[in-house]
Amino acid sequence: MKIVLAYSGGLDTSVLLKQFVQAGHQVVAMTANLGESDLVAGDGSQDALDAVRRKALALGAVEAVMIDARERFIDDYAYKALAANALYEGVYPLSAALSRPLIADLLVETAAEYAADTVAHGCTGKGNDQVRIEVGVRAKAPHLRTLAPLREKPLSRPDAIAYAQANGVPISHTAAKPYSVDANLWGRSIEAGVLEDPWNAPPEDAYAWTVAPATAPIAGDEVVIAFRHGIPSIGGTHGAQMVFELNKVAGANGVGRIDLIEDRVVGLKSREVYECPGSVTLIEAHKALERLVLTRDELRLKAALDQKYAELIYDAQWPAPLRNALDAFNAKIAERLTGDVRVQLLRGRAVVTGSRSPFALYDESLATYGAGDRFRHDAAGGFIEIHGLPVAAGAAKAAAAAEAATPQPV
Ligand code: ARG
Repeated sequence: MKIVLAYSGGLDTSVLLKQFVQAGHQVVAMTANLGESDLVAGDGSQDALDAVRRKALALGAVEAVMIDARERFIDDYAYKALAANALYEGVYPLSAALSRPLIADLLVETAAEYAADTVAHGCTGKGNDQVRIEVGVRAKAPHLRTLAPLREKPLSRPDAIAYAQANGVPISHTAAKPYSVDANLWGRSIEAGVLEDPWNAPPEDAYAWTVAPATAPIAGDEVVIAFRHGIPSIGGTHGAQMVFELNKVAGANGVGRIDLIEDRVVGLKSREVYECPGSVTLIEAHKALERLVLTRDELRLKAALDQKYAELIYDAQWPAPLRNALDAFNAKIAERLTGDVRVQLLRGRAVVTGSRSPFALYDESLATYGAGDRFRHDAAGGFIEIHGLPVAAGAAKAAAAAEAATPQPV
């Protein structure tokens, strides 16, 4: 059969590719560039991507396609999550979770292009990513068969290395790495190894994009994020390039480290460490603009819907109709989300220090304690009278009932 394999270039998917080829299948290796290699220390990202393609072909793939999906990822996935301030369990910006429905779409599109009837991935049976990819594939192309060999037959690291050595699969120095890592422009996740004991503090070597807040520069950095209808830019730079640069500057100030005991879709708890300097900064800024512009009712309802949105992303429900409905709500809200937010990046924190917008509901002449106050102080007394009416009535009833229940002295 002809199989489109979601191929990262790492050990597991390289072993899978080789096994498919040995079993006589035609394999199209599909790799999505989501900006991860740009963020790996040093440059030569194009070389790194070419090396992945060449490796797939050397292992016997009939085709190796490298899809530059950076802008699509940011525009159609990450910025929809930004509109919802999406943070799973209050802290995780859903970097890996957001990429899987895109990878599913790319698998489906590549299968159509190369007339393949099967897609395959290297996810294990224990994680969320298998669910996200397969729900995504089913939504778009229910006729496709999906293979998940590492779910049927888990491959231990030593077995993978032994197989690779015996079958001419090159093993990079990262095969011995102590963690399982996934990364794209929205963030980097690190799991397994010593992190599996939740009492162990994450060692410094788990992090690649952020410095330890304690060693970050004392002066920090400042960025002004300009939003136009909810879409950010910094100094005229947009999209993937802007997120890339923000990751660099926020990471250099130790912003975006997250350590979470997380509840997986498949029921178990796991310990996940993330570094998401860019997305954490953008979400802070986006929330600040909302606080300036939206009504109290909008903010209250949106907080609840935002949490639901994050859960949909996490729970592999990206293709669900509810997400489209929430996108429509967020798009309506974003009509007024134009303005600037200044953020100080300082020793692990992204702190908003200023915001302004032509749509601001904040009105200094109402808020001021200084001269020029336009607030009707005299109206507050009557307001309290009526606003407190139910409480006063309830309290009076309770007091009367208590009195009635008190035994009277004879
Ligand atoms: N726990 C995170 C999530 O489910 C990160 C998953 C990272 N994936 C990986 N294959 N290492 O979104």
